[in-house]
Amino acid sequence: MYVHTMPDEKPPRRKRYAGTHPRRFEERYKELEAARFPEQAAKIRAQGRTPAGTHVPVMLQEVLKALEPHDWQTFLDCTLGFGGHTEAIAPRVARTIALDVDAEEQSRTVARLQARNVAISAHHANFAGIAKVLKAENLQCVDLLLADLGVSSMQLDRPERGFSYKNSGPLDMRMDRSRGQTAAQLLEALREKEIATILRELGDESQAEKIAAALKAEPPKSANDLTVLVLRTKGMAPRHRQKSAAETHPAARVFQALRMAVNKETENLESLLRNLPYVLNEGGRAAIITFHSGEERRVREALCAGLASGLYEKGDTEGAGPSRDEIYNNPRSRSARLFWVQRV
Ligand SMILES: C[S@@+](CC[C@H](N)C(=O)[O-])C[C@H]1O[C@@H](n2cnc3c(N)ncnc32)[C@H](O)[C@@H]1O
Repeated sequence: MYVHTMPDEKPPRRKRYAGTHPRRFEERYKELEAARFPEQAAKIRAQGRTPAGTHVPVMLQEVLKALEPHDWQTFLDCTLGFGGHTEAIAPRVARTIALDVDAEEQSRTVARLQARNVAISAHHANFAGIAKVLKAENLQCVDLLLADLGVSSMQLDRPERGFSYKNSGPLDMRMDRSRGQTAAQLLEALREKEIATILRELGDESQAEKIAAALKAEPPKSANDLTVLVLRTKGMAPRHRQKSAAETHPAARVFQALRMAVNKETENLESLLRNLPYVLNEGGRAAIITFHSGEERRVREALCAGLASGLYEKGDTEGAGPSRDEIYNNPRSRSARLFWVQRV
C-alpha cells in the first residue's frame, strides 16, 4: 500500500553523532525519550547502566521492608528525585507528600508521576525546613519518612548542572539553581586553607592541600577544567579513563566535597536529624539512605542517641548495604547504607 507522507510529517531524524554510539548526553535521545523507546532503557539497565535522564531507586525492597507502609498512613519523601521510591510507596499509603530542592527535576518528576496516576502533594523545599512543609499541609507529624541523600543520576547526567567529572558544563553544582553560590563562585570566595579543609573533611581527599593550591592558582570555570586540574595535580593524564564502573575516578572525591559545600549538605542533614523525632507520629518510622562515611557517622550518632534517650524504640543503626545483585545491576548503589528507626 502506498502511503503519502507530507514533508512535515516525516519522523524526526536521529541526532547526528560521530561513531556508532551516542556519547554526549543530548545525543542519547532514545534514553531521554523512554516512553518512545522502552526497549532501549531495558537494554541499558541490563548492562548495569542507568539510562540518561533517569534514576534507579536504591535499596527499594529494603526501604519497603523497613518502613512497612500501611494504607492509613501519611508518607513524607524528603528527597523526591526521579520519584522511584515514592512511586512504590504512594499506592500503599493514604497520603504522600514529597519535597525536593531541585525545582527543575521536580517538575519533570511530578509530570511523570501524574501521567502514571501517582497522587502526591509536591513542594519545592529543603528538608532542613521540614516543619514549614508540614505546616503548609496542616500537619505536625507524619507516619513514614524517607531521606535518600545526595544527588540523583539525572542531576549527575545533565552537563549544564556541572555535577560530574564526566561532563564539560559550567562549574555550578547547585541543586537549587534559584539561589546560592555556584562551585566556581565558592572557589573564588574561599581561601586556600578553607578549600583544603573542605576537600579533606567532605571528600576524604588525601591530596587536599596540593589540589587547593592548584585551585587558587588557576580557578576552574567548567567541570572539565576541574577534572583536568585534579588529574594534573595527581600526575595523571588529562584523558584518564576508569577501567570499570566500580572504580572510583581520581576526581570523584573533589567533586563530592565541592558539591556538599555548595549545597550545605552537612548542615541540612544535621537539621533533619535534629527535627526527626518531632515530625514522626507515635510508632512512625524513618529511613535514611547515606552515600559516604561522613553522612553515615552523623546519621548513626543521631539515631543511636535517640534510641538511648528513649525517643526511638527500634531500628537499624548499623546501616545495611545493598545486595551484590543490586550493586551488579546498579553500580551507583555501591556506597549506599540504609538506616531506619521507629518512634516510641
Ligand atoms: C538520591 S536522589 C533521590 C532519588 C529518589 N529517592 C528516587 O527514587 O528517584 C536525592 C534527591 O534529593 C534532593 N535533595 C538533596 N538535598 C536535599 C535537601 N536538603 N532538601 C530537599 N531535597 C534535597 C536532590 O535534589 C535529589 O533530587
